Order: sequence, then structure tokens, then C-alpha cells
Amino acid sequence: MKVIYPGSFDPVTFGHLDIIERCSKKFEHVIVAVLNNTSKKRSFFSIEERIKLLEETTKHLKNVEIDAFSGLLAEYADKKGCSTMIRGLRAVSDFEYEMQMALVNRKLNKDIETLFMVSRGGEHVYLSSSIVREIASYGGNVSCFVPEPVERALKDKFKGGI
Ligand code: COA
Repeated sequence: MKVIYPGSFDPVTFGHLDIIERCSKKFEHVIVAVLNNTSKKRSFFSIEERIKLLEETTKHLKNVEIDAFSGLLAEYADKKGCSTMIRGLRAVSDFEYEMQMALVNRKLNKDIETLFMVSRGGEHVYLSSSIVREIASYGGNVSCFVPEPVERALKDKFKGGI
């Protein structure tokens, strides 16, 4: 089975990588779909940077493809011929938002099923890309949260200060 794991990945963290690695063992093909038009806010890393970091950190996983998408996820799923979405659940607080998104996506495209993967636990429960960016912006050590290429990219971005 082919699945889509969508997100902003701004930047990819060990929490995301845990989900990607576990998906790659369970499914034949995993499309990591990086959102290009965020209604949330302007992204910190450009779409090209986010894709490059994902490619670098998943290159050992041969059945993982990194792709960008813009517009509705439901339409992207249709275009890719893949109706199974994967989302990670870190804590109960994720549930309401995830449930809303899953229901909206199914309303927009009746074939879409969203499967939830429970996070590994430990620090993955409170980990998020914005927390990592915040720590890095003050020169803090993020090596336990992100892989080395991401750590380097963050250092580079913040080298002139915030
Ligand atoms: N480990 C660590 N962190 C995780 C995580 C995990 N397993 N899963 C999520 N996160 C974090 C992310 O880092 C991100 O942190 P941030 O807010 O600090 O940046 C946050 O949780 C949520 O991010 P993400 O999983 O990337 O989702 P998102 O909310 O940024 O994007 C999309 C979700 C892209 C799937 C959704 O916005 C979308 O489909 N957009 C397209 C438009 C559309 O179709 N809309 C209708 C659907 S309702």
C-alpha cells in the first residue's frame, strides 16, 4: 500500500523521522508531502530547504519519496492516486485538530482515509518544529531533537543573531 505523510516540516525533527521510518517498514511506498502554501504563516525554511533536509535525512529509506504540494491535500491525494493519509499523534491535545482535518479531508474526497500513528513517547510528545526553532534562535543545543543536517541549517540561519 502507498501512503501520504503530509506536513509543513519546518524543519523536519526526530519526531517526524520516527513516523517516516516506521511507515517505511509497514508500507510499500511513502510519499512525504511538504506543504508549499501555508495558511498558518510564512515558513521559516523555504520549500526547497525543507525538501533538501528531508531528502538528506531519509536517503537511507529507499521506499520514501519527498514531494511538495500546494492547495488542498484532498486534491493532491487524487492527483497522486493515493487515498491513505498518515498523521502522527503526540498527545491528546493533537486529537481534536487531527480529527477535524481527517473529517474535512474525507468530506472533500470520500476515498480519503486517515491513519494515526502514536508517537514513540518521551521527548517526541512535546517536540515541535517551532520549539526547535526557538531553542536554536537562542543558540541552544538542538542535537537531541533534530538530525545533524537540520542542526547545521539552523545554525546557519541564526549565525547573524535573531
Ligand atoms: N513529531 C514532532 N512534531 C510533530 C509531529 C511529530 N510526530 N507531528 C507534528 N508535529 C509538529 C510539527 O512540527 C508542527 O509544529 P509547529 O506547529 O511548531 O511548526 C505541528 O506539529 C503541526 O505540524 P504538521 O504535522 O506539519 O502539520 P501542519 O499543521 O503544519 O500541516 C497539513 C498539516 C499540511 C497536513 C495541513 O495543513 C494541510 O493539509 N494543508 C493543506 C490545505 C488543506 O487541504 N486544508 C484542508 C485540510 S483541513
